[in-house]
Amino acid sequence: MNLAHRTKIIKPSGTIAMAEKARELARSGKKLFNLDVGEPDFDTPEHIKRAAVEALMEGFTHYTSSLGMIELRRAIAEHLMERRGLEVNPDKEIIVTPGAKHAIYCACLATLNPGDEALVLTPTWPTHFTCVEIAEAKVVEVPCGETYSIDEEELKGKITSKTRMILVNSPNNPTGGVLDIEDLKVIADLASEHNIFVLSDEIYDEIVYDGVEVKSMASFENIRDKVIAINGFSKTYAMTGWRLGYAIADTNIIEAMNRIQQATTTCPASFVQRAGIAALKGPQEYVKRMIEEYDRRRKYIVNRLNEILGVNCVMPKGAFYVFPRFTNLRMPSFDISIRLLEDEGVCTTPGSVFGECGEGHIRLSYATSLENIVEAMERIKGFIEKYSNM
Ligand SMILES: Cc1ncc(COP(=O)(O)O)c(C=O)c1O
Repeated sequence: MNLAHRTKIIKPSGTIAMAEKARELARSGKKLFNLDVGEPDFDTPEHIKRAAVEALMEGFTHYTSSLGMIELRRAIAEHLMERRGLEVNPDKEIIVTPGAKHAIYCACLATLNPGDEALVLTPTWPTHFTCVEIAEAKVVEVPCGETYSIDEEELKGKITSKTRMILVNSPNNPTGGVLDIEDLKVIADLASEHNIFVLSDEIYDEIVYDGVEVKSMASFENIRDKVIAINGFSKTYAMTGWRLGYAIADTNIIEAMNRIQQATTTCPASFVQRAGIAALKGPQEYVKRMIEEYDRRRKYIVNRLNEILGVNCVMPKGAFYVFPRFTNLRMPSFDISIRLLEDEGVCTTPGSVFGECGEGHIRLSYATSLENIVEAMERIKGFIEKYSNM
């Protein structure tokens, strides 16, 4: 069929083929160990659910401002002040979206023209590539390795007259790396010097370990008019299915994003926004407990992986993923993931979907029970012994 060329830009991701294979194996009765999940395995806290139910029962079921309810924007501004020391004007500098993903989409459409180049720090979540490409701009990968750190000369060397955006995701999916303050400053200074937008996906900013310092790209005054900082409720509050995210940026950028949101989704669901207020203003104890549990799993999974001959795994500082490298396997990461699934029932994500420098790695999520992780590690060990140097 003669469909629009745009539909070909959005390539069916390798992970869909994996998911289909997993479904087929599950149907045949094979026990699976899902280490490919990108969402918390915890339930949304009670008080958040209750706020949505109350809103529904009160009849709070109509459109809201397309920027999102002002009460929610105020709660976001308070949260950003308290957690990041950021001063954000809730009237003009925040847009609430149905998920962070939609904020990224609106941000790319609002800032990129066809033919522009976006420097995307990799490895990174595949949606970052897709949104740049939907805006008909070109992705230029800047490899940051498994520790997700910046080589300033490399980044500088990739800036051309067409560069319009630097896209950064710290804490990072898939490596769990967190850029240190000096690296963030390098990005800010280059963006300021070359007049480049910075799209900073900060959705994992509350999920960090060992007291690591987190700073928003929006804290750098020299690029305050060029930063779009993306965040959301999916990860911190275990609210993936609710679809609630937001962006903070300069008024002009928010206005442009708002026009796109008005034309596409109008606003996020009204009662979901009320739940968002409850999430930000309610008790935060639950978030702390989730992070403690992730931390326990993180230490176990990294230690266990590094005990296996032919596996190197960096200790992540944030998010809930590890990105080990399998040094003894002579096969592409896609084949590793497929064979791990077929032979051992372990679902993983091939490193290559996160950019060229992801090849040789697989992503494992520890947003699953420790019991699952323990069994999956045994299976991965057996798998590596079987295929090493073949
Ligand atoms: C880096 C990153 N940003 C955004 C999202 C999606 O956020 P949301 O559920 O708010 O669309 C994900 C989900 O996996 C992610 O890994």
